[in-house]
Amino acid sequence: MYNNWEELEESINNCNKCKLCKTRINIVFGTGNKNADIMFIGEGPGADEDKQGIPFVGKAGQLMNKAFEGLGIEREKMYISNVVKCRPPGNRVPEDDEAFACLDYLRNQVILVKPKIIVLLGSTALKNICGKQYGITASRGKWIEKKGILYMPTWHPAALLRDENKKIEFWRDLKEVIKKYEEIL
Ligand code: URA
Ligand code: SF4
Repeated sequence: MYNNWEELEESINNCNKCKLCKTRINIVFGTGNKNADIMFIGEGPGADEDKQGIPFVGKAGQLMNKAFEGLGIEREKMYISNVVKCRPPGNRVPEDDEAFACLDYLRNQVILVKPKIIVLLGSTALKNICGKQYGITASRGKWIEKKGILYMPTWHPAALLRDENKKIEFWRDLKEVIKKYEEIL
């Protein structure tokens, strides 16, 4: 573990700890406010993120931005990252060995950001951070508290592209996050 961003960011340069290193264009480390109170964690970069090196810039990200705008959440004030930092080929779900190899970076990011709330975007983030016993359908919208951090599991923004009901629930979950944040402020 590194106690500053410079060393952590340097440590991931040219990372080849898992096989995703062979097919990536860019490592997508994370973006936003490094002192954020609220952090968002997705699954892994897609094609657009891989090209640009920034998380959530493709279709799913644009949909998330729309929800942020509608709810008055300023994206620049949040910190946004992913379970794996390199794109899984064809956008498949990261395999266990890949998530395992990459999670130390994410843990270190969480330690440095020190968020009060972490929004888990979809099943991959939920299972890798809170444990395999959690399922997204049963857990979404319900707070999980662990080691002084409040976790809110919700749908992955890509799932919203396919299902209007999930959009409503996603919106509701983010509203709950804002409400809780105002309470604990
Ligand atoms: N999906 C993710 O899980 N993360 C991104 O950064 C983009 C799409
Ligand atoms: Fe390294 Fe993570 Fe990329 Fe795998 S996904 S090569 S562990 S940065």
